[in-house]
Amino acid sequence: MNATQQAVYDDTVVRQFSIMTVVWGVVGMLVGVIVASQLAWPELNFGIPFLSYGRLRPLHTNAVIFAFGGCALFATSYYVVQRTCHTALFAPALAKFTFWGWQLIIVLAAVTLPLGYTSGKEYAELEWPIDILIAVVWVAYAIVFFGTVGIRKVKHIYVANWFYGAFIIAVALLHIVNSAAMPAGLLKSYSAYAGAQDAMIQWWYGHNAVGFFLTAGFLGMMYYFIPKQAGRPVYSYRLSIVHFWALIFTYMWAGPHHLHYTALPDWTQSLGMVFSLVLLAPSWGGMINGIMTLSGAWHKLRDDPILRFLIVSLSFYGMSTFEGPMMSIKTVNALSHYTDWTVGHVHSGALGWVGLVSMGSIYFLVPRLFGQKQMASVKAIEVHFWLATIGIVLYIAAMWIAGVMQGLMWRAINPDGTLTYTFVESVKATYPFYVIRVLGGVLYLGGMLIMLWNVLKTATAGQAQAAVIPAPAH
Ligand code: HEM
Ligand code: HEM
Repeated sequence: MNATQQAVYDDTVVRQFSIMTVVWGVVGMLVGVIVASQLAWPELNFGIPFLSYGRLRPLHTNAVIFAFGGCALFATSYYVVQRTCHTALFAPALAKFTFWGWQLIIVLAAVTLPLGYTSGKEYAELEWPIDILIAVVWVAYAIVFFGTVGIRKVKHIYVANWFYGAFIIAVALLHIVNSAAMPAGLLKSYSAYAGAQDAMIQWWYGHNAVGFFLTAGFLGMMYYFIPKQAGRPVYSYRLSIVHFWALIFTYMWAGPHHLHYTALPDWTQSLGMVFSLVLLAPSWGGMINGIMTLSGAWHKLRDDPILRFLIVSLSFYGMSTFEGPMMSIKTVNALSHYTDWTVGHVHSGALGWVGLVSMGSIYFLVPRLFGQKQMASVKAIEVHFWLATIGIVLYIAAMWIAGVMQGLMWRAINPDGTLTYTFVESVKATYPFYVIRVLGGVLYLGGMLIMLWNVLKTATAGQAQAAVIPAPAH
């Protein structure tokens, strides 16, 4: 760079990850609609092994969490860390490597999972060579992110970076510990752990995948994009710091609530339950902090669909983080576990919180990244918002009703001690709710397709725009 050139941010990688967020969102949700349809109409696997439910379900979870959610986290964290540190990315070539490496991992997952290669660990199904690749890409990500924080031109480290940073460190730790395995061939391995320990490690991982992958990183998004879009400072910066430390300390202990009434020692289950109940406080503190950032600017919700995506995502965050602690109470879990109530809880968090906050953030980013004033169609954002919201309500209401009904049917006992219902009767009773879920999923996917059209139209109408880094204040 010579004296006449101005320093600019490295946004190519942000653009690439933003576009791929939307592409993988469409793919992952399409597979979601397919598996939802198979649960209603099992013949839809057409007798083909790689279209069977057991293979497509992990494809869905991997695609939506790691491809859609992961790309959204990479895109926003690279954007936010540069803007809040007033510097371009540290090691841009490494950042480029994280993009191509992450896409390769996604493609490898999309090939191996339908072929039936799996380690059998939920949300960690990929086999050991892919796990090693994930670890390498993730370490590169950590170097880029923390390197950028390290070369920052402002003294303060903005709170969003704390959340992104915790997410990056925790995911590295969780992935490496949980994936430890003994290879027995190129696409087969045995877990390094056995029995109850294996289950415990797996759900320590699984729950913190929720806490750090599906929550902490997205809270980083929330702390940057809500104040930006609302044009207001964070409601309470002090609360955001308390929120951060309380959340990351508490999440780590809550895993055993996935293993109630199992061979896990009873005290561990109670510990998991207590920490899950405590988790309500930091979760709601964060939600309130985000929503109250709108104080004095509530009227903006009326005609700003992007802000609506962001704020409604927080309402769903509040709902799922109230529901989660309730479900972790052992007596409530005795009813909810194994039922579709859990699936309803998952999707109020996944569709409502993770989905909407990502969509709002990408809608914020795309026009800025491609030198446009706004998205090609603001009306289309509005339509997307309503399709997504109605889709979520149909999905989660259907699963709540189905779940509580299943739980009650399974435990109903006649005066002589025999079961009132056979299992198949509960399956039959669930059928209409599975059909309603398909409808909700189709609406949610429809919104995502509109988003893809809108994003591509905006990107092609504009062109990659280099953003100048502000000169340091003296
Ligand atoms: C069109 C939207 C979607 C549809 C129709 C859909 C449908 C489904 C279905 C049918 C299942 C299997 C449920 C079962 O085994 O009984 C499932 C599981 C799951 N989905 Fe989705 N999904 C959608 C979007 C998403 C998104 C955006 C995320 C995450 C960001 C997500 C995360 C998950 C997770 C974590 C599970 C596993 C749940 C569990 O084990 O309890 N889904 N989804
Ligand atoms: C305070 C926060 C939360 C607590 C205490 C909590 C608690 C729980 C509990 C008790 C279960 C049921 C375990 C079982 O019976 O098997 C569960 C399942 C689950 N939750 Fe949450 N939850 C919280 C927030 C969230 C959020 C925000 C999301 C998504 C973004 C989420 C995603 C999931 C997933 C994916 C599962 C299903 C895991 C599986 O069995 O595959 N949770 N959660």
